[in-house]
Amino acid sequence: MGTDVKSQLAERAAEAEKIVAGFLPEVTGMQSTIFEAMEYSIMAGGKRLRPVLMNETFKLFDGKGEAINYFMAAIEMIHTYSLVHDDLPAMDNDMLRRGKPTTHAKFGDAMGVLAGDALLNFAFETAISAFEAKDADVSRIKVALQILSKKAGVFGMIGGQVVDVESEKKQLEITEEKIDFIYELKTGALIEAAMEIGAVLAGASDEQIATIEAIASKIGMAFQIQDDILDIEGDEAVLGKPIGSDERNEKATYVTFAGIEKSKEEVKRLTDEAIDMLSKLPYENAFLKDLLAYLVYRDN
Ligand code: IPE
Ligand code: IPE
Ligand code: MG
Ligand code: MG
Ligand code: MG
Repeated sequence: MGTDVKSQLAERAAEAEKIVAGFLPEVTGMQSTIFEAMEYSIMAGGKRLRPVLMNETFKLFDGKGEAINYFMAAIEMIHTYSLVHDDLPAMDNDMLRRGKPTTHAKFGDAMGVLAGDALLNFAFETAISAFEAKDADVSRIKVALQILSKKAGVFGMIGGQVVDVESEKKQLEITEEKIDFIYELKTGALIEAAMEIGAVLAGASDEQIATIEAIASKIGMAFQIQDDILDIEGDEAVLGKPIGSDERNEKATYVTFAGIEKSKEEVKRLTDEAIDMLSKLPYENAFLKDLLAYLVYRDN
C-alpha cells in the first residue's frame, strides 16, 4: 500500500503543480526579477500537500466546477511565501529548501522579502478571480475567501510564526499549551484552510465543514510534530532542507518538550483520530484516508 499511495500522491501533486504553474505571471517586463523569484520559489518542488488535500476534500463531497483551481493555486502560493519568509536570515536562516538554494540565497535578502510579499498578494489576486470561473457559486467563493484570509493571517499562520519566533532561545517559558498554540496556528491553520475550502466549494454542510476543520487540525499538529522529528532524524538529501535547523536556532519544539518517542506516538495517535473521524462521514475518499495515514511515516 505504501508505494501505491506514494505514486498516487506524486500523480496528484503533479496535477496540482500544473494548476499552480498555470496561474503564475509571465517572466517579463521591468520588474521581471520578481516574476523569476516567484516562479523559482514555487517550481522548486514541494509535496503540494495543501492543494492536494483541498482537492481531495472537494472530491470527498462530490464537488464540481472550476473555482477550486483558483484556490488550489492560492493556497500553494501562500504556503510557499510562508516558507520563503521562514527561511530568511531574520527568521530560521536556512539556505536549502525543496532541494535548492532558498529564495533569498539565490536572489538576495531584499528580493526574498519581496518574493514572499509578491506570492502572498498574488495568491489573493488569484483567489478573487475565482468569481470569474465557469459556474461560479458566489456565496461559496465568498466563504472560501474569508477562510483563506483569516487562516493565513494574524489569527492563523502569521500568529503562530510570531509566538514560534518569540519562543526561540527560551525567551518564553515553554508549556504544552504554548506549543499547541504555535502548531495549531503556524502549520495547522493552512492545512485547515485547505481542507475547509475544499469542503465549502463542494457545498458541504456547516456540520461537515466543522468536522473537516477538526480533522485538519489534528493532521496539522501531527504534520508539524513529524516535521520536527525529521529535523532530527531525517536525511537532508531526501528532505530537501537542512536537518538540525531547530537545534541551531534553539527552537522550542514538541520533540524538545516531550521527547522523540512520545512525539512519534502523538503523531500516530492524532492521525488515527483524524482518520477515524473521516471514516464516520457518510462520504468516502479512499485515497484521502491513505494519504493521511501515509503522512505519519513520510520521510520528506
Ligand atoms: C513545510 O511544509 C513547513 C511546515 C509546515 C512543516 P511542507 O513539508 O509541506 O513543505 P513542502 O511544500 O513539501 O516543501
Ligand atoms: C514553519 O515551521 C511553518 C511555517 C509556517 C513556514 P518550520 O520552520 O519548522 O518549517 P521548516 O522546517 O523550515 O519547513
Ligand atoms: Mg520556522
Ligand atoms: Mg524553518
Ligand atoms: Mg521544521
